[in-house]
Amino acid sequence: MTTARCIGILGSGQLGRMLAIAAAQLGLDTHIYAPDAAASPAAAVASRWTEAAYDDLAALNDFAASVDVVTSEFENVPAGVMEQIAVHCPASPGEAALRTAQHRVAEKTLAARLGIGTPRFWPVTSAAGLRSALAELGGDGILKTCRLGYDGKGQRRVASGEDASEIFGSFGSDDAILEEKIDFAFEISCLVARTQDGRVAHFPVSQNSHENGILARTVAPANIPSSLADQARQATAAIADELNLFGVLAVEFFVTSDGTLLFNEMAPRPHNSFHWTIEGCASSQFIQLARVLAGLGCGDTSAYGRWQMDNLLGQHMQQVPDLLASDGVHLHLYGKPDARTNRKMGHATRQLSES
Ligand SMILES: Nc1ncnc2c1ncn2[C@@H]1O[C@H](COP(=O)(O)OP(=O)(O)O)[C@@H](O)[C@H]1O
Ligand SMILES: [Mg+2]
Repeated sequence: MTTARCIGILGSGQLGRMLAIAAAQLGLDTHIYAPDAAASPAAAVASRWTEAAYDDLAALNDFAASVDVVTSEFENVPAGVMEQIAVHCPASPGEAALRTAQHRVAEKTLAARLGIGTPRFWPVTSAAGLRSALAELGGDGILKTCRLGYDGKGQRRVASGEDASEIFGSFGSDDAILEEKIDFAFEISCLVARTQDGRVAHFPVSQNSHENGILARTVAPANIPSSLADQARQATAAIADELNLFGVLAVEFFVTSDGTLLFNEMAPRPHNSFHWTIEGCASSQFIQLARVLAGLGCGDTSAYGRWQMDNLLGQHMQQVPDLLASDGVHLHLYGKPDARTNRKMGHATRQLSES
């Protein structure tokens, strides 16, 4: 691919914002397309924006014709949108990556097919199906919607002995997955960048803690045995290769106390658990994605020391004055006006002293 001048971004949130900032650093333009583009975190820092629905074919065609390459900052882009765009220009992360990441059964099935361990899981489309899945599970589980879940939304813990009809009736989705609840020792994530001609670059592994299903803190590079980090990176690269991914792919894993690695989920886009790379790595995840999209090749991903990243949710915004007054804190605010509870408003990164 020849080098691109303008990156089109579907979606208007903080990931699009940080990608647009990175693209600008590389002298590239960005064009945001989203139904709520006006006054959005991404449009505020982009070169251009279009506010239109994802099924507005005329607006999509105009958008695609105005850019050299398109990516999506969220994985739930309707399938037809990327197909339409791919008529005009290269589309990231690619059709197979989007289709697979949009469905929890599809992504876990892919991981299992590639020999990557997953929690035991059962597709659930009826109360009777849930009843037999619970009987097979024989312990505690988590019922999740297969589509559109994020930040712990669309999930319900299920204790053994609960009534399947009641759970299914109140769950509100008949396209669900029951997963074994894993008593993990810790959670890690990997991020790989992959160019259109299949060259990959890995980032150091992140270690993550969640609160109420939402990422709270990342510490990276994770203090884990190098064999485990290699295994996680190899699994991530195998998925990226299998999907012929163009862009970046994040994979979340559980690690059990005996060191077993289990695939949890994936996202073919920049990931919250790699925001620390903005200050912590030679190339951040956003610079890396901009480089790959623009045909500039992958950059160096070495880390400068160890880092901690804390998310700032709506209820944490009163910490901002203290963070502003603290030395060594890199504060990122996404410019969202409404600090609702559990809404991601920003993050703060600091370097940890080596111990
Ligand atoms: N099968 C499971 N066993 C134990 N904890 C889980 C399981 N699935 C999810 N969780 C917890 O909930 C968090 C969010 O779930 P996840 O499947 O990653 O959905 P989301 O799309 O909301 O991030 C996980 O990071 C983990 O802490
Ligand atoms: Mg997750």
